[in-house]
Order: sequence, then C-alpha cells, then structure tokens
Amino acid sequence: MAVTGFILFGYVLAHMLGNLQIFLPPGPDGIPRLDHYAQQLRAVPPLLWGARVALLASVVLHIVAAVQLTWLNKFKARASRYVKYTASASNYASRTMIWSGPIIFFYVFYHLLDLTFGTVNPHFEEGKVFHNVVTSFQNPIVALFYIVANVLLAIHLYHGVWSMFQTLGVSHPRYNLLLKKASVLFATGIGVGFCVVPLAVLMGIVK
Ligand code: HEM
Repeated sequence: MAVTGFILFGYVLAHMLGNLQIFLPPGPDGIPRLDHYAQQLRAVPPLLWGARVALLASVVLHIVAAVQLTWLNKFKARASRYVKYTASASNYASRTMIWSGPIIFFYVFYHLLDLTFGTVNPHFEEGKVFHNVVTSFQNPIVALFYIVANVLLAIHLYHGVWSMFQTLGVSHPRYNLLLKKASVLFATGIGVGFCVVPLAVLMGIVK
C-alpha cells in the first residue's frame, strides 16, 4: 500500500502543480500555457505510455492491497467483535479510507470521461485543455462535485501519507509529531491546489 501510494501521491502532486498553469497568462502565440504543457506531455509517447502503465499498475496494486488489509483488519485481527468499540489509535480519516478510496476511484473515472475522453463534456475539443477545463467547471454542479471529491482526496491523503511514513519505517517518537504535521501540510496543499481551479472558474477569475 505504502509504495504504490507513494507513486500515486507523486503523480497527484505533479498533476496539481501542472494544473496551476491555468493561472498563467497565455504564451506569445496566444495559446494557453496549459495547452502547451499538455502538448509537451505528449511529445515523447514511450515516456507518456510508460508513466500511464506504471500509474495503472499502481492503482490496481493499491486496490488489491486495500482489500487484503481491510479483510485482515475486520476478520483476522480478532476472533470476536468488541463488545464496546472505542477508537484509540484511529481517527476519522483512517476509518474512512475504505470509503474515500472507492469514491476517489469513481471520481477519477468520471474525470477521465470529462477531460481526457470528453464523453460527458458537451464542449470538449481535442487538445484544447484550457477550454475543456473552463467549460466543464462553468457548470456549477460539476465544479462542486470536483471540490467535494478533492476535499475527500485530501482527507484520504492525510491518513495515507502518515501511514506511509509508519509502514516504511520513518517513525520515531521524537519526529512523529512533525511527520503528522507534514502529512496535514501535504494533504491540505494538494486539496487546496486542486480546489482553486474549479473555484476560480466558478468565481469568473479564470474564463
Ligand atoms: C480540479 C482538479 C483537476 C483538474 C482541473 C484536472 C485536470 C485534468 C486534465 C485537463 C486532464 C487531461 C489532460 C490532457 O488531456 O492532456 C487530466 C487528466 C488526468 N487526471 Fe486530472 N485534474 C484534476 C484532478 C485530478 C485528480 C485529483 C486526479 C487523481 C486522483 C487526477 C487524475 C488524472 C488522470 C489519471 C488523468 C489522465 C492522464 C493521462 O492522460 O494519462 N486528476 N486532468
């Protein structure tokens, strides 16, 4: 879970930073920077497809590990259920991982239909990434859906990043508070970084 989570985290961070180019003024040719960026990503097809295959493999392995871990926690860790359950080491984020995970999966599935294939976006135009993002988020229902899903992603990442440190052995009583704060910072940064795009379109700042 930790290693595939780390790969997915790296992708999400890079994707969020890439998206922020929507706020840059267009290039001297008048073409939005986001469109240039998307063209550059496609410039070396073996690299693009290599990254896509690695990403897909990470998603599949992450899900398989999640199912195994949930199974172990629920049915193998204790022979019988607690009479009275009081959470001692878990929190809201950690207990909802198994729900936030599938919701994020369906969100990404919708997102691909929206901005990569254009199936659910009536204004979609191949290669016009800036236009596709703006027209999609000009629908307030779509924009709100993205915002809610990205908040959920941030909650998922908060526990994921913290858990990853523990699993990979980056853990020491002296640094654990710092690691927890770093997890909050990473997760909030990514959540805010993604949410500002639909918010900016909704508010008419990006049009
Ligand atoms: C407001 C938030 C987001 C915006 C504006 C956004 C924007 C985009 C755009 C424009 C594309 C198509 C790029 C192209 O065709 O060149 C894309 C692709 C993609 N996005 Fe996002 N994205 C957002 C959030 C996310 C999140 C949270 C995830 C994952 C958890 C994600 C995963 C992906 C994936 C897997 C692709 C397909 C990449 C490929 O072509 O292989 N996106 N996104």
